[in-house]
Amino acid sequence: MSQAPSGANSCTSNDTHINQAQTKYPIDLFRGWPNPALLPVDALAKSAATVLSSPSIYESGLQYGPDEGYGPLREHIASWLGSFYRDELESEKRRRNPITAERLCVTGGASQNLACVLQVFTDSAYTRNIWMVAPTYYLACRIFHDAGFMGRLRGVPEDEEGIDLDVLERGLQEAEDKAASEGNTKPVYTLPRPWSKIYKHVIYLTPTFANPSMKVASLRRREGLVQLARRFDALIISDDVYDFLQWPSDPNATDIKDTACVPRLVDVDGYLDGGPIDEWGNAMSNGSFSKLIGPGMRVGWAEGTEKFAYGLSQAGSSRSGGAPSQLSSTFVDQLLPSGILQRHIKQELIPAYRARYNRIISAINDHLLPLGFKLPAGNQPISGGYFIWLDLPLSLTGDLLAQRALADEMLMIGSGTMFQVQDDCSENHQRFERSIRLCFAYERFEVLYEGVERLGNVARRMLTER
Ligand SMILES: Cc1ncc(COP(=O)(O)O)c(C=O)c1O
Repeated sequence: MSQAPSGANSCTSNDTHINQAQTKYPIDLFRGWPNPALLPVDALAKSAATVLSSPSIYESGLQYGPDEGYGPLREHIASWLGSFYRDELESEKRRRNPITAERLCVTGGASQNLACVLQVFTDSAYTRNIWMVAPTYYLACRIFHDAGFMGRLRGVPEDEEGIDLDVLERGLQEAEDKAASEGNTKPVYTLPRPWSKIYKHVIYLTPTFANPSMKVASLRRREGLVQLARRFDALIISDDVYDFLQWPSDPNATDIKDTACVPRLVDVDGYLDGGPIDEWGNAMSNGSFSKLIGPGMRVGWAEGTEKFAYGLSQAGSSRSGGAPSQLSSTFVDQLLPSGILQRHIKQELIPAYRARYNRIISAINDHLLPLGFKLPAGNQPISGGYFIWLDLPLSLTGDLLAQRALADEMLMIGSGTMFQVQDDCSENHQRFERSIRLCFAYERFEVLYEGVERLGNVARRMLTER
C-alpha cells in the first residue's frame, strides 16, 4: 500500500489520517499514462502477426534499421500529418511546404529524441541556456541536465496566449550580453559538423494542450516566438505529443474538428516571412505515439527541415544502431495506411478522453470551484491532452494538499512544485506552490468524480482547520 507522507507539517494526527485512508481504495489522478482499456491491443496483435509472418517486413524489422528510421513508416507518417495539419486557409503555404518523409526521422519517442537533439545540435558551453515555458513537463529537466545544462535552465512564464515573449526576449538579450562579455563565441565540446549546426539557445515547450497547464498557445504568439528564435539563433523544441487528442470544451458541442486547432511551430517556421532563414530552420516538432498507441511502443517522430532531419539521423547512437525502435516501427506502420490508428483516435480515444474530461470538470465545478479553486485554462474553446491545472485557494499549498490527499483519502495528485523549472535561479523563477495537476487519462472513468470529491473533502478540512 502507498505510504502516507510523514512530514511534520503534513497533518495534525498521522494515525487518524492513515486509518481514514485505509478504509478507501486508492485513486490515482497523478499518473500521466493512458488507461489500460484504451490500449489498442487487438489491432497491435494483428499488426505483430502480419509483421512476424511476412519475411519482407520482419527481415527489415529485426535487423538494424536505416539511420532516419523505417522508410514505409516515414512515408505514412508524412501523409497522416499532412492531412491532420492541413489548414484550409494556409493551403497555399502548405503546398509550398509539404510534409515529406525527408523532413522526418523515426524516434524512440519524444524523451529519447530530446536527448538526441541535444547531442547533435547543442554544445553545453556555447549553447547559453535552455528556456522552458513554466510550468513545464517536469521529466524534461533531467534530460537537459544530462546534456550538460545543469544550472542553466530558465523558466519563462505563460499567460492565456502562451509564452511571455517580453520576458523571453529580455532573457535572451541578457544571455547574449553575458556571452559577449565572457568571449563565448564558438562551440567547445561539440564542434559543428557537415550534418549539424550548434544553436546558441534552446526553447522548450508543449504549445498545444500543455503538460501540465493544458494551455494552447495562440498563432500570434507562435509567430512572435519563431521571430525571436530566428533573431537569437535559438532552436525551438516543441513537444507536440497531445495535438491529436482534442475536443470542444463545451460538452454539448457536436462539431468535432479533425484537423489541428492551430499550426505547429515547425509549420510557422515553414511559412513565416517566406520560410526558414537557413537550411536548418529554428523549430522542430517532437511527436510521439505514446499517447495514441501506448508508451511502451517507444516510437515517435521528429520533423524539421530536411537538413535538420538528416542531421538528427546522424546522431552517433543512430549511426551505430540504426534509428531506435525498428521492430516497433514496423508494427506501428501497419496501423497507418489501413486507417486503423486514425479510427482508433477518432472513435475510441477522443470520445473516451472527452467523456473523462467532462466528468472531471463537472466534479471540479461541484466540489472545488466553490472552495475557491481556479481553472486557468477554463475559457479555451478547445480542450485536449491529459491534464487539468488548478490554482488553489489562498491559504492552501499544493505540497500539503497532495500529502493530505494521500494520507487522508488515498488520492494521488501532482503538486504544482513538481512542475517548476528545476535549478532555475533567475528572478523569473516560479515555484507553483499554489497549484496542482490532475490527470484524467489514467484512472478508471467510474472513480474520476469520486477522486475530485475526495480532494474537495480534504481541502475543505484543511481550510477549516486554519
Ligand atoms: C510534454 C511531454 N513530452 C514528452 C513526454 C514523453 O513522451 P514519450 O513517451 O514519447 O517519451 C510526455 C509524457 O507524459 C509529455 O507529457
